[in-house]
Amino acid sequence: MNKIIIHGGFPLEGIINIDGSKNSVVALIPASILSKSVVRIYNYPKISDVGVLIDILKELNVNTKINETYLEIDSTNINNTPLITAKMGSLRASYYFMGALLGLFKEAVLRLPGGCYLGPRPIDLHLQGFAGLDCRYEIDDELIHLQAEKLIGREIHFPFPSVGATINTMLAAVLAEGKTIIYNAAKEPEIVDVANFLNQMGATIKGAGTSTIEIIGVKMLHGTEYQVIPDRIEAGTYLILGAMLGNPLEINKVNPHHLKALLSTLTNCGVRYDINDDKIIVHKTDKLLPTNIITQVYPGFPTDLQQIITTLLTQCNGVSTITETIYSDRFQNCHELIKMGANIEIDNKQAIIKGKTHLKGTEVVAKDLRGGASLVLAGLIAEGTTIIDEPQHILRGYSNIMKKLQKVKANIHMST
Ligand code: UD1
Repeated sequence: MNKIIIHGGFPLEGIINIDGSKNSVVALIPASILSKSVVRIYNYPKISDVGVLIDILKELNVNTKINETYLEIDSTNINNTPLITAKMGSLRASYYFMGALLGLFKEAVLRLPGGCYLGPRPIDLHLQGFAGLDCRYEIDDELIHLQAEKLIGREIHFPFPSVGATINTMLAAVLAEGKTIIYNAAKEPEIVDVANFLNQMGATIKGAGTSTIEIIGVKMLHGTEYQVIPDRIEAGTYLILGAMLGNPLEINKVNPHHLKALLSTLTNCGVRYDINDDKIIVHKTDKLLPTNIITQVYPGFPTDLQQIITTLLTQCNGVSTITETIYSDRFQNCHELIKMGANIEIDNKQAIIKGKTHLKGTEVVAKDLRGGASLVLAGLIAEGTTIIDEPQHILRGYSNIMKKLQKVKANIHMST
């Protein structure tokens, strides 16, 4: 099994270009089948989750063409094959095939989604969205069967915002009869991106990015060409790295508006950065200040950056806290950081991080995607050699991470 090997403790300098958003593209790929035509997605991230979704498309007799610049998806001859292979269970976002296939065929059989373990991750709200459009469902032995005579647009009131359930309901509703209104919708930039993509294919969606989304069903969609938004979590990861090691680091091709919560947290920690259009230049900060972070739905501090900023908090002078409100078990990386010398206590939903601690390289395990990224950052600031086992979790979501880091002079490679 491959491992990531890092010789840490050196400053980094140069430019890191950010790729398209993982959490957008994993929805755009299933969404593309609603066109029953040809769709080209530009600026897609080169991550293993995209490869898995392409394999799933093949099972549906959907052709794909992929090169450095774009991913082309031709669903003209799509079949409604039951999606029951293990690939469906290897990532969370396979759940978007539920909404897309239901929308297109009014029926689908699928294996339930997998993905990183962050505590229980139910899909009851997704099912509430489908049921709200007059769909029936049965779950039996890890398979779900969705079926509707016809999908009818209605009002759907979610008890709290969910990214996945909001997008899945949009996917199912674009070809439904009449008007669907989603109340308490999630407002993440990826939801706006998916709505823009569907609208470019001929859908009528208004209000994405607010808590009320209105969808007027249309009879059919058509092909399009689309540019994915920059990945705010990838950008945030390298900004946090730059705050510790940037000499300086220039994070390029970002949308700073999507990073407001992180940037204000970095300001609280005393980090120096300059924003220039789609670039952020970030400097290593010697005297980092402690802070208190609470994860929240967008535009609050994203849970996906919580594990990554923990590494920075180990370098702040004083006591910091992180309160995780979205997932019940998202501190697994802390146990690995402790092995490297971090001083972290976990108290239910809160991590208490006492700094500044001197991290030393050792062998650690990437247990999930963002937790794995937090260990890469820790390895880069630590003295000596860090070995990260199970790097496949990291490659699920970071486009060309090895090359990008090597280009800014990081001493990092993958063992064979
Ligand atoms: C998406 C992102 C993930 C991010 C999360 C929150 C993708 C592929 N993944 O995940 O990276 O961490 O948003 O920003 O885009 N919940 C339920 N029932 C449901 C659905 C969700 O109880 O049917 C709960 C979840 O367990 C969690 C909370 O709602 O506690 C938010 O989850 P949600 O916004 O749905 O996250 P995901 O779509 O799974």
